[in-house]
Amino acid sequence: MCGIVGVLGNHEAAPILVEALKRLEYRGYDSAGIATVNGGTLDRRRAVGKLVNLGDLLVHEPLAGKSGIGHTRWATHGEPNVGNAHPHRSGPVAVVHNGIIENFRELRAELAAEGLTPSTDTDTETVAMLTEHHMNTGLSPTDAAIKTLGKLQGAFALAFLFDGEDDLMIAARRGSPLAIGYGDTEMFVGSDAIALSPLTDRISYLEEGDYAIVTRAGARVFDAQGTAVEREIRTIQISSASVDKGGHKHFMAKEIAEQPAVIADALRHYLSPTGDINLPDPQIDFATVDRITMVACGTAYLACLTAKYWFEQIARLPVEVDVASEFRYREPPIPARNLALFVSQSGETADTLAALRYCTGKAARIASVVNVPESSIARESDVALPILAGVEIGVASTKAFTCQLTVLFLLAIKAATDRGEITPEQREDHLSQLRRLPSLIAEALEQSDAVRETARKLANARDVLFLGRGPLYPLAHEGALKLKEISYIHAEAYASGELKHGPIALIDENVPVVVMAPRDALFDKTVSNMQEVMARKGKVILISDREGLAEASQGVWDTIEMPDVSDAVAPILYAIPAQLLAYHTAVAKGTDVDQPRNLAKSVTVE
Ligand code: M6R
Repeated sequence: MCGIVGVLGNHEAAPILVEALKRLEYRGYDSAGIATVNGGTLDRRRAVGKLVNLGDLLVHEPLAGKSGIGHTRWATHGEPNVGNAHPHRSGPVAVVHNGIIENFRELRAELAAEGLTPSTDTDTETVAMLTEHHMNTGLSPTDAAIKTLGKLQGAFALAFLFDGEDDLMIAARRGSPLAIGYGDTEMFVGSDAIALSPLTDRISYLEEGDYAIVTRAGARVFDAQGTAVEREIRTIQISSASVDKGGHKHFMAKEIAEQPAVIADALRHYLSPTGDINLPDPQIDFATVDRITMVACGTAYLACLTAKYWFEQIARLPVEVDVASEFRYREPPIPARNLALFVSQSGETADTLAALRYCTGKAARIASVVNVPESSIARESDVALPILAGVEIGVASTKAFTCQLTVLFLLAIKAATDRGEITPEQREDHLSQLRRLPSLIAEALEQSDAVRETARKLANARDVLFLGRGPLYPLAHEGALKLKEISYIHAEAYASGELKHGPIALIDENVPVVVMAPRDALFDKTVSNMQEVMARKGKVILISDREGLAEASQGVWDTIEMPDVSDAVAPILYAIPAQLLAYHTAVAKGTDVDQPRNLAKSVTVE
């Protein structure tokens, strides 16, 4: 949530900040702002809504200066208006913030006792006010900021800039990630390395509790106890192209189209030509694991629900799956021979990270499946498995989901092998199906134009239901989540067999029902449920393979044809029509596909 950036540079800061914020806009887009120091004078510009509004403002009211901080906001405290937009300023102090200051009410009360009153609804303003207050007691800007950090509770990343200080920025990390970029006599800070990628490839990450005193000469980093520490500076490779739309109308369209390539990359990485599954060290021996606890949020949670079917059916290994926000407060017992497995695209989701920390020291092993290898979740795991999806910008997760599924499927095959639950022939059969996946997905993507036609009809619906059975049941949830997320159409998912236990009351001639049903072992049962829908005038969109459509498409409202695929691998392939349906429906409705309302890509607050 919220992206922050800072620069102590040799060129005008405003355009650099705005460019960097463009790369962070996926984290929030309720408002944006920058502050600079020019000839010692601190000033700021802020605008409500997308970054483009800040750009327009800067045309009319430019901001000079080679030192600056910037922010793109996902509102937590206070509605999105100019007053609540960052940077927040109190006298000589400007602050940008990602996260939540949990004790801001207490701090406000302390400031009020000194006669100081806030002018915004935000928690962040308190940080600036407190720092000014400390400076008024005679402390230097650096010491005042450090004293403020000592009083803050919550999860945050902060950058401070000061009036009269052209060559000073304070950066701090507690709970929310913060990267420091090293240039030639220039320094940068950013919520992630992508923001800084055109500026420098030399990056270090602050650790939990660290703060840094940054000048153009470099950064001095201190840990939570105030002890000077060294943090490794790594050369990071993020191509600028990876954050372009690459000729597509939306990032989501590009990311959907990239799936054959990124899944092929993941398979090349993990699967040798001779069928060995190569995982990073330390190796997980599934023969010593009694149960897997999988925890995640949103789409990543649905990847876990799908993987439960694989681990249980193929590896005969019991799996418990939970959403992180429930798991972390439920205080579940974690038996010693449990593998705790966390799945997250960003690797920074606050609830998933908190759930991981709950399991640390309890589970036999902490493993994660992540897209960002430098993320907190990856770094705090015993073993992190990258999904190699590349940068995902669209708020609606697409290629990260199918790459998560691919890695989890390989993990299930490895588990089955370790536990002696699979014959060499069964194993080879699963792996050869997986190797076919990139070309099957490419084939499925050719249905895009046909799906667009279906989506035009779907765009008029008020409510849509998704049905699936077995491993297609979690995918029905993913289809519903994608649709509501970007088209704002109310959508729900049910296990096909569950419909008659209540939800069937919703069915009438106005309710489209998307049925995900490859011609698998459960097909006939799903078709019976579909008939029950049609008998009540429900409009069925049947997604199946040629054989399934030939058998069951009579009387349905519309069909989408998928290539033949094995039962086990089907949920990965059927993610494609679910994504395309949501995408084309959103385009038909004219909603903001990549930055849907109220959402942010990376949810780093509870
Ligand atoms: O970065 P994560 O995978 O941990 O994010 C989890 C969810 O916030 C995320 O999957 C969200 O549900 C997506 N917007 C779904 O498209």
